Amino acid sequence: MVDKIIFATSNEHKVQEVRKMLKKINVKVLSLNDVGLKIDSKETGVTFEENSHIKASDISRKTDIPVIADDSGLCIDTFHGFPGSFSARFLDGHSYIDKQKEILNMLEDIEIRDAHFTCSVTYINKKENIDKTFTAEVPGKIIKEFDEAGQNGGFGYDPIFYSLELKKTFGRATEEEKNSVSHRGRAIAKFVQFLEENN
Ligand code: IMP
Repeated sequence: MVDKIIFATSNEHKVQEVRKMLKKINVKVLSLNDVGLKIDSKETGVTFEENSHIKASDISRKTDIPVIADDSGLCIDTFHGFPGSFSARFLDGHSYIDKQKEILNMLEDIEIRDAHFTCSVTYINKKENIDKTFTAEVPGKIIKEFDEAGQNGGFGYDPIFYSLELKKTFGRATEEEKNSVSHRGRAIAKFVQFLEENN
């Protein structure tokens, strides 16, 4: 019976999102800070699946508590999926406001603005010999102009990502709205279903 897991990420926004989702099935989510561990491996994979697996295995080697890790990113169709797994490293050292503005510049005059977020979640439970990865996407479009009012909610590229399902940007959505359709929400939902069937 799994009642707590470590989420191998240093992004507190992600921990908060996932903590709320797993509270519903009474699974406590510990962050790396909570357990005093850190990821030493480099994200050397090319795919989201490979990178989430690298992060989960790294932490799983250091603890017996079950671990999840995710890897995610924004994929823009016109740029063949860029920035994809480079989403965090794109314009390294710059703020997300700069990163958003640069994406908007790169898409200036381009009509086809289709994009999606992808998220892979790897679950490793050493004691039960489980090692599984769940992947999901959310479809959307990149908005045309920088949205100052959308900067308060979400994180990363949320303010420039217009969700086709929510009919608003992730930056303007509530956390509950975002979780109900997001790539991470959907990948975690697949993980939750797996836990419910196997716990
Ligand atoms: P990761 O922490 O290696 O998975 O990097 C993911 C990067 O992709 C983040 O730093 C953001 O730049 C971007 N990203 C992933 N998920 C989201 C999201 O839900 N909203 C906004 N940006 C995201």
